[in-house]
Amino acid sequence: MKDRFSLLKQNVLITGGAGFLAKFHIQALIEKKANIFIIDKNYEGLIKQKQKFSKYKNIYIFNCDITNKKELFKINKNILNRFKKIDVLINNAFNDYKIDKKINYVKSNKIDIGINSWHNDLEVGLTGALNCIEIFSKSMLKYKKGVILNIGSDLSILSPNQNLYNHLKIKKPISYSVTKHGLLGITKYFATLWAKKGIRINTLSPGAIELNQDKKFKEKINELIPMGRMCKAYEILEIVQFLCSDASSYMTGQNIVLDGGRSVW
Ligand SMILES: NC(=O)c1ccc[n+]([C@@H]2O[C@H](COP(=O)([O-])OP(=O)(O)OC[C@H]3O[C@@H](n4cnc5c(N)ncnc54)[C@H](O)[C@@H]3O)[C@@H](O)[C@H]2O)c1
Repeated sequence: MKDRFSLLKQNVLITGGAGFLAKFHIQALIEKKANIFIIDKNYEGLIKQKQKFSKYKNIYIFNCDITNKKELFKINKNILNRFKKIDVLINNAFNDYKIDKKINYVKSNKIDIGINSWHNDLEVGLTGALNCIEIFSKSMLKYKKGVILNIGSDLSILSPNQNLYNHLKIKKPISYSVTKHGLLGITKYFATLWAKKGIRINTLSPGAIELNQDKKFKEKINELIPMGRMCKAYEILEIVQFLCSDASSYMTGQNIVLDGGRSVW
């Protein structure tokens, strides 16, 4: 019987490919034997990411900022010249708001709740995602088959609980909320627009993923999660495989929320 989760010979492009979560997207795609193309503005990060998977030959890196359409057009041409088509796009790139990197956060005592980060966050998280959809869907439209996966967040459907960050004197900026909510709009828009053109588009919205966060933050967030713990990064693997492959062939316009039950409590 055909493996409907197979991504053999499928060409999958991931933005923000040098980052933390991208490592797990890559692992998920390697298990299903895809050809993997990763884009990131961080060249050294790309090299390091590729090195982590040095045994797998079908990973190709592209150093590019997704707000630069000219560069994206070049990458698309380059991939199509050699591989003919792009089957799957994972819109994953975003500005880093990890709580171990406080420098990116807006200090609460400055009254600013994300006005400074507003333009760039929307430019990367929404316009950048839209650029990639516009450009990398060209071969999908031509061959009438493709999948787009947007990486949202539990903050695609929730307002941030700022109590989680009080002790650090920081706030989750509004630009994060608006961008992540906006991705759901993009998902629904293209899901209906392209439903009969063979292109499916969904969102995966994970809650905070356990890394090296501050201890107090972890204690506070665990209290908000019915399962009492944060998401482990490997827990996204099978969902990525499902959403990128024919296994989800009747699903479009949807949002899978992976939050240990936080949003229904
Ligand atoms: N880590 C989490 O706990 C978590 C939880 C929910 C959702 N998410 C989402 O998952 C995605 C990945 O998050 P992550 O934790 O891996 O973050 P990360 O910062 O480790 O990775 C993001 C990557 O995007 C790249 N990037 C940023 N702007 C770019 C641009 N303009 N052009 C090209 N590349 C650009 C960065 O260089 C970085 O390598 C994000 O959309 C994030 O919002 C993460």
